[in-house]
Amino acid sequence: MHQSKQAHAKSLATSREHIPVAVYPTSTSASQAVAAEIAALIRERASRGQRAVLGLATGSTPKGVYEALVALHKSGLSFRNVVTFNLDEYWPMDDQSLQSYRRFMREYLFDHVDIDPANIHVPDGSVPRERVAEFCDSYERAIREAGGIDLQILGIGRTGHIGFNEPGSGRESRTRLITLDKVTRMDAASDFFGEWNVPKKAITMGVGTILEARQVVLLAFGEHKAPIVRRAVEGDVTSTVAASFLQNHPNARFVLDPAAAADLTRYKTPWLLGSIEDFGLRWDQNMSKRAVIWLARTLNKPITKLVDEDFNEHGLQDLLAARGSAYDLNIEVFRGMQRTITGWPGGKPPGEGGSASDPFPKRVVVFSPHPDDDVISMGGTFIRLCDQGHDVHVAYQTSGNIAVFDDDALRHVDFVREFAQAFPQLGREFTQKLEDNIESFLARKTPGTPDTPELQKIKSLIRRSEARAGARFSGVKPENIHFLDLPFYETGCVRKKPIGPEDVRITAELLDKVRPHQIYAAGDLSDPHGTHRVCLSCIIEAFKSLSHQEWTQHCVLWLYRGAWQEWAPEEIEMAVPLAPDEVKRKRLAIFKHESQKDSALFPGPSDTREFWQRAEERNRGTAELYDALGLAEYQAIEGFVRWKGSTV
Ligand code: F6R
Repeated sequence: MHQSKQAHAKSLATSREHIPVAVYPTSTSASQAVAAEIAALIRERASRGQRAVLGLATGSTPKGVYEALVALHKSGLSFRNVVTFNLDEYWPMDDQSLQSYRRFMREYLFDHVDIDPANIHVPDGSVPRERVAEFCDSYERAIREAGGIDLQILGIGRTGHIGFNEPGSGRESRTRLITLDKVTRMDAASDFFGEWNVPKKAITMGVGTILEARQVVLLAFGEHKAPIVRRAVEGDVTSTVAASFLQNHPNARFVLDPAAAADLTRYKTPWLLGSIEDFGLRWDQNMSKRAVIWLARTLNKPITKLVDEDFNEHGLQDLLAARGSAYDLNIEVFRGMQRTITGWPGGKPPGEGGSASDPFPKRVVVFSPHPDDDVISMGGTFIRLCDQGHDVHVAYQTSGNIAVFDDDALRHVDFVREFAQAFPQLGREFTQKLEDNIESFLARKTPGTPDTPELQKIKSLIRRSEARAGARFSGVKPENIHFLDLPFYETGCVRKKPIGPEDVRITAELLDKVRPHQIYAAGDLSDPHGTHRVCLSCIIEAFKSLSHQEWTQHCVLWLYRGAWQEWAPEEIEMAVPLAPDEVKRKRLAIFKHESQKDSALFPGPSDTREFWQRAEERNRGTAELYDALGLAEYQAIEGFVRWKGSTV
């Protein structure tokens, strides 16, 4: 019997994947599908007069599911017959604290639905040490007495943890107190206003407890999850990746967005599974480029030295059949990459070979989500654009105030007080205000408390003056430095408001004023909740709102990647090389951000390097890659991708 094409592709993929995987176009559609499934379970149980027992997770991943469930409740879904058990809670943790998972669940779900509070179970982070073991036993008992969990929702940590079952957690482990991994604590740092405030322990359901659920759905969204998703789905079952135990569960599956799925063989190197046509793919220019770069990197050869046998021996016979000889393919990909390299990001002036129809100098707007993304992620290009005479504007989208240490704010307050004493005409009232509003607040502040508006303002000003110093150093004229202070960011907490019309209006106003030929923006497209993604969608909405204007037809939007990683080499459409001196200038521009130097308040996921070190290593890495592929050898390269009008 003939298998359908789809079934064939599925069986090819599952030859590597040891657990069912569903990939949705976006994290929102994935969350809605899971919420619909939960709703169906709740209704089906209600229709039989039975309870539905849900296992719930916290963290950034399931927020979309809870949002969708709340919406379903508003249109009639009742939670009266629902019993819930949460996976975990930090220990020690008071349930009123900002970071408590019990509080998280109230804010995202329980307070908005008609669930009976008696049916809610979240591990208690406030039980004293000597009673923890007893508490854990009682939690297990409560699950059993409820009839076991019908459907368990999970996220996955970058250590592969489910719940807080860190590497080393065994298949049989039960609810218990565990020590959090360093990576997990760094990932939680932003919620706790610094890694050192993250509790070292947590109470978590065990792997064995989770595996007893009748159905398990693990959600993962965003590119930062891609490597661990691959290990959990395609790797061996091992206690070093707790999520891999789900492979042996009879009814578990992974629900992903394309970014989290990107490292699975069927997406990354589908040719290794057979004919790519079985996956609905074609050997077009893009796919060929990906395969050729992959082959060159796998064999450690420059592109132009790849021969027919290399392709044949590495599963790429179909590519040769579709596109001709290795020679032709190599030249096509090599030339394509070579064309991406330009030392003139704004185009060449007519005297240097630029075309008369290409305006020069150009008006350029560089958007920086936080006050230092411009210099960290594209500092070399920024400096070049200024040096080459373009009219460069920089727009700092958010104040970035939450990332300033209290100590730094205090140092500035100290300066201002001394300053006021040196210039008595400012008056005693002024210094008194500083003492009352700032210094005494800081003296009694506990970790995680949001700052007073005055302190937030001071922190914003610190970042503002640093950003101005960095932009000035890069060559931007003072009048071209703009601070948008987008309102969505100004909550004083890590959690932000959604973007609103005011954010878009402020952005559109600037664009309309400058009418740029080029825009540069941070393009972390799949980061589900991050500031970068929100800032990008704001630019795109603003740009669309101006699309009736002539200038928008010719304006090019270049995306740079945020501080954490670079575009893949096959994606880069503009590669701006930097000479050693330019690398140094870029470093000095980053150094202007003193409040982020040495150790940042939000260093980002498990990376102890300073921002300038990450930037240099990343740009050097891209240059080394171009060199290894046989292109020119540079000190460093910054990579950009052109926005093509898809939605964010
Ligand atoms: C949360 C939990 C954790 C998270 C995981 C992913 O209750 O048990 O396993 O699911 O750390 O966190 P996010 O979703 O924030 O990336």
